[in-house]
Amino acid sequence: MTKPTGLKLVERDAGGVDLAFRADVLAGLAEPHKAVPARWFYDDAGSQLFEDITLLPEYYPTRAETEILTNRATEIAGLIGPGRAVVEFGSGSSVKTPLLLSAIGPSAYVPLDIAGDFLRASSAALAAKFPGLPVLPVEADFMRRVELPAEVAGLPKLGFFPGSTIGNMIARTATDLLRTMRATLGEGALLLIGMDLVKDEDVLLAAYDDAAGVTAAFNRNLLARINRELDGDIPLDAFAHEARWNDLFARIEMHLVARTDVTFTVSGQRFEMRAGESIHTENSHKFTKRSGQMLLAAAGWEPRARWTDAARQFSLVLAESCPPRSAP
Ligand code: AVI
Repeated sequence: MTKPTGLKLVERDAGGVDLAFRADVLAGLAEPHKAVPARWFYDDAGSQLFEDITLLPEYYPTRAETEILTNRATEIAGLIGPGRAVVEFGSGSSVKTPLLLSAIGPSAYVPLDIAGDFLRASSAALAAKFPGLPVLPVEADFMRRVELPAEVAGLPKLGFFPGSTIGNMIARTATDLLRTMRATLGEGALLLIGMDLVKDEDVLLAAYDDAAGVTAAFNRNLLARINRELDGDIPLDAFAHEARWNDLFARIEMHLVARTDVTFTVSGQRFEMRAGESIHTENSHKFTKRSGQMLLAAAGWEPRARWTDAARQFSLVLAESCPPRSAP
């Protein structure tokens, strides 16, 4: 059965199981180094836990990016100009989206998100804050090209991808996504993208393993989701949350480490793990000015401006979609 969800379709079986979720989990757990893509964190509970993370004292990215949007609003608005349709990749329920929308005076706001209930709730909140602004949510997997609503067809676009979510992808996937964004947004598009910066390892580790245990709950929620949606029996307590800095790839990794030998089933398939073995659940790449600009350029986005917060923890980059051209 295919459940229609806005303009995009999420493929589900007769029991309502998201087929892509099942395929990713079963394939990832069968790998020698078990891994599940981080995008599956974001069911309704996971989306709420992530909102909680953004308020933690250790989690600096949200505050730093908000600081940039607040202090540089006039400059950012001047470069973007009014009247663009803002297409946000992920639905913005936080303060960042209102900050951007009030600064630039857009003609429409199109949030794209795979978590439908969360998308609808945050869109309603946004629409209430901006009464004259058309808010046109689309439930979609933005990793693929998205058909935007007809209402914004003729308008110039600004893609908004805050939070350094681009850092949650390995370079190849990030490049594919940035190219796909160009296809979704069309010619002449701009992109305002948050990119978290390389910094002291202790600061990074604390941000991904907070004292209150919210990030641990966010990580473990993935197992709860697998159990609930894919008929699993994974013992949640058998797994410990761990954040690791991988210097070679300049990224924080999150893992769920088996505390003891453990056996479980998911969708009728049996899996075994030894004590100490982990399920790799997330990468959060950190960028330098160069590595960020290289990534954007590789996907056809030319950086036009770049801002950091006062403590230089986080960067916001404005880039313009450029047609392919021959070197140099
Ligand atoms: C959404 N993303 C940018 C967050 C990050 O910082 O990589 C997700 C997150 N994972 C743990 N804490 C926050």
